[in-house]
Amino acid sequence: MQKAQKIENLLKKKFFISQSSNIYGGVAGFFDYGPLGCSLRNNIVNYWRSVFTNEPNIYEVDSSVILPEAVLKASGHVDKFCDTLIFDEVNGECFRADHYLRDKVDEETGERLDVMSLEEINETIAKFDVKSPSGNKLGNATHFNLMFKTFIGPKSQNLGYLRPETAQGQFLNYKKVYELNNEKFPFGTFSIGKVFRNEISPRGGLLRVREFEQAELEFFVHSDEKTHAKYDRVKDVELTLHFGSEVQETKRMRLCDAIDNNIIKNRCIGYFVGLTHNFLKAVGFVDFRFRQHKRDEMAHYACDCWDAEILTTYGYIECVGIADRSCYDLSMHSKCSGASLVAQKRLDRPRQEVKLEPMCDMKEWGKTFKDKLPLLLEKIKNLKVEENNLVKEMEFDGQMISLEYKRTEHTVHVEDFVPSVIEPSFGIGRIFYSLIEQVYWERKDDEQRHVLSLSPVVAPYQVGLTSLRIGDYKKQLNDIFEQLKLRNIRVFMNERNVSIGRRYASSDEIGVPYFITFDNESVRDEMVTIRERDSMDQVRVLTEKVVEVIDGLVRGSIDFDKINK
Ligand code: ATP
Ligand code: GLY
Repeated sequence: MQKAQKIENLLKKKFFISQSSNIYGGVAGFFDYGPLGCSLRNNIVNYWRSVFTNEPNIYEVDSSVILPEAVLKASGHVDKFCDTLIFDEVNGECFRADHYLRDKVDEETGERLDVMSLEEINETIAKFDVKSPSGNKLGNATHFNLMFKTFIGPKSQNLGYLRPETAQGQFLNYKKVYELNNEKFPFGTFSIGKVFRNEISPRGGLLRVREFEQAELEFFVHSDEKTHAKYDRVKDVELTLHFGSEVQETKRMRLCDAIDNNIIKNRCIGYFVGLTHNFLKAVGFVDFRFRQHKRDEMAHYACDCWDAEILTTYGYIECVGIADRSCYDLSMHSKCSGASLVAQKRLDRPRQEVKLEPMCDMKEWGKTFKDKLPLLLEKIKNLKVEENNLVKEMEFDGQMISLEYKRTEHTVHVEDFVPSVIEPSFGIGRIFYSLIEQVYWERKDDEQRHVLSLSPVVAPYQVGLTSLRIGDYKKQLNDIFEQLKLRNIRVFMNERNVSIGRRYASSDEIGVPYFITFDNESVRDEMVTIRERDSMDQVRVLTEKVVEVIDGLVRGSIDFDKINK
């Protein structure tokens, strides 16, 4: 059986996840999370919070899932958030063009599929004589918008969409948070929540679904100050970078070298690349890389973009997108809503500015133009006033008017600007699924014994607790359970009446890193056994010390191999 299939079976058997509405046959691209899935997902999200948001200038925002059309028209999603759709002309089966054609064309064409126009896709289908899986002709390619459309209220003209990213709700609220932050830069907002994309062909378990959770941080900066106060803390991390705006190559290098060589464009996006690297390592990923978007691949709003891609059985999969969105979104929302989304920056050195104002001869013009005077004043108000190109004469109502200007000089201390945004965007489901893939293995010579080597940081349970004979040591077990709970340690009480070996095996399958067992000797020597999941090694420790030892093990301050040494 293929690895991906085995993992899917395990996830379903232990109810990490299940296809939603499954007793009605299920719907592709939608999943429900069971108890273990909820726990693993929550632990990933909580750890993300602790790494990315635990700063005084980072604020949480929780905004609506349904957005009116105007918002997504301004952001560009109504017009541009599309994939290219092709379909079987006979049975109507639909495919996402770049995915379907990739292994049916040569490598060079395959690389360009996701940036091709509709005409180019049609030409490619013809050139390589591609047919549908049933051998039928493929119809002409069309653009397919990925957003779910809905109506707001009873009137069908009030169109809304389920949000395709949490980011837009953060942009709409940015000005209020700017004020909360005493109008100081930089600062960030973040949101964690469901987003929706009507994917053409969902696949790969949680990797491509139609409803998924994002954790997104929007970091607002002045466009001249794209740096981060904590850059030095990550500048030395070693990264695997796959980069180039046209031809791409892979290299290992330190973050600071990538910045110095202008591979990563600024320290702010660099900081979030470094932090993402540290986050992924601590969660338990071993094999991942950062891939730069090519010039023609970048989203409509981005000017530099790096994906954290994790190696899975489906190849490298984008799980995090880190983008420099420039001031695109705020400028568009400002323009389309009429709201001022500018911020102010105190200048390092105040600047002298000349102001020229047309002088209006109200008395004389009043006599001449009478009730047409307001029209004339409006025209003058709308004049473009440029020092080197002043309008000195204009025609109005058949007469020439001379214009003079009042010149004043003043000192400017602040300037208006639209902030730029650096955004790390995490897909929690993709991280969840690729993590399971990377930590899954089978015990040597026993395909039936699956193990998930989940790190205690995210494992649904950090420690198991049992007695050799079910029913023994009830009071002691409860006592230890309560003490571990007080330390916020997630405990798995295994009271299944099967052999201890089977109890260990079933806890290995759900990734419990350590296991405490009371046995026949425990009364006599006041000791219990701690078993380590991956090596299956066991040590005995004093019962009164076990809580402290487990605490150290799950927090990483004690090494299992050094216990009792
Ligand atoms: P892809 O090219 O694979 O469709 P994308 O470039 O559209 O992905 P982004 O728009 O950058 O992805 O979305 C940000 C993050 O949201 C991704 O890094 C990924 O983790 C997650 N994500 C995007 N689409 C899906 C999906 N259909 N199912 C699950 N997670 C997704
Ligand atoms: N916010 C980035 C994305 O979802 O594409």
